Amino acid sequence: MERILTLKGLNNVLTRKPNEKKVIVLDSNTYKYCLPILLSKVNALHEATILEIGVGERNKTIDTYMSIVKGLVEEGFDRHSQLIALGGGVVTDIAGFVGSSYKRGIDTYMIPTTTLAMVDASIGGKSALNVGEIKNQIGFVHFPQMVCIDTSFLSTLPSRHKKNGAVEMIKTALIADRELFYDMMEYSPEEIGENEFFIKQCVKIKRDIVRSDPFDLSMRQKLNFGHTIGHAIESDAIKHGIDMLHGEAVVIGMLYAIELSKDMPVGQKNTVKKYITKHFDTTIDKYDINELMNYMDEDKKNSCGKYNFVLLKEIGESIYGQEVSKEQLNRILNFKN
Ligand code: GLY
Repeated sequence: MERILTLKGLNNVLTRKPNEKKVIVLDSNTYKYCLPILLSKVNALHEATILEIGVGERNKTIDTYMSIVKGLVEEGFDRHSQLIALGGGVVTDIAGFVGSSYKRGIDTYMIPTTTLAMVDASIGGKSALNVGEIKNQIGFVHFPQMVCIDTSFLSTLPSRHKKNGAVEMIKTALIADRELFYDMMEYSPEEIGENEFFIKQCVKIKRDIVRSDPFDLSMRQKLNFGHTIGHAIESDAIKHGIDMLHGEAVVIGMLYAIELSKDMPVGQKNTVKKYITKHFDTTIDKYDINELMNYMDEDKKNSCGKYNFVLLKEIGESIYGQEVSKEQLNRILNFKN
C-alpha cells in the first residue's frame, strides 16, 4: 500500500534521489493555484519538468495519456524517473495510469489538491481512463509510492468542489462509521469538505478497507455505494455536455440506493434523505431513464449479469453484492422522476 506523508516527508524522500528525473503532471488550475504552494514546500522539485493537461473529466482519455507519454519519451525519462501528480481526481487518475504503465511502472507520488482526490481518488492505487462517455473503462490497481495529504491546497478550492468531495466523505461515513456520520451532520457539505479531521478519518477508513481487499474482490466494493446509478448519471451528463461533478451524480445515486435499502430503519433513511435533499440538487428530470438503464446494463456486464448494488443495513453498516431487479430499478427511477 501507499504511504501517507506530508509534503515535508515528500521533500525528504525526493532529495535522497537527486539524479532521477522528475516530472509534475498537473492541469491549468493546479498550475496556477497549487504549483506555487508545492514548490514553496518541496525544494527537490524546483528543476522538475512540468506537463500540463486540460481541466475536467472530458480529458480523462487515452489521447491525454498519450500526450503525457510522448512528453516523457521526448524528454528522455527512463524507468528510474519519478512522477508527481498534482491535482484532483482527473489528474491523479491519468497520472496514476501513466505511472503504472510507463516503462512498465515508475515511482509515482500523488499530491491530491481537491477534497475528492484526498479522500478517494488518490487513495487505494486505482487509476482509470474513460472510453467515450463511459467512465473508468481501462485502468490499473498499482499503488503509488506515497500520497501527500496537505489541506492547505483546499484554501483555493471553490466551494462547489468542497461539496463535491464531501459527498464521498458522507458516503464513507454512511458505509462504515455511524459516529462520524452524525458528527458530520452538524456541518454543511462545504464545511465537511474542508475539515481536516473529517478528511483524515475518511482517508483512514478507506485505507483500512483497501488494505483488507486491495483488488476489489469483496469488501472494497462497499466504496461504490451510490455509484451504480451515480456513474450512469455522470456518463449521461458527459454525453450531453451537462456540467456535473462526480459527487453531484453520486449523491443522487446514494439517495436511490437508500431507497433500495429495505433493511435500513425508516427514521435513519429520513435523516440521510433530509440532509441530502436540503444541500444538493437531486432532481433527475433532465435525464432519460432509458439512457440511464442502458449505462447500468453496460455496468451489469461486469457484475455477473446482475444489477449489483451496495446497500445500507443501517447508518455506518453496508452490504455489498446486493442484487436489484430491472423492475425494481425502473420503478424507483420512474417514481422519483
Ligand atoms: N473509488 C472506489 C475505490 O477506490 O475502490
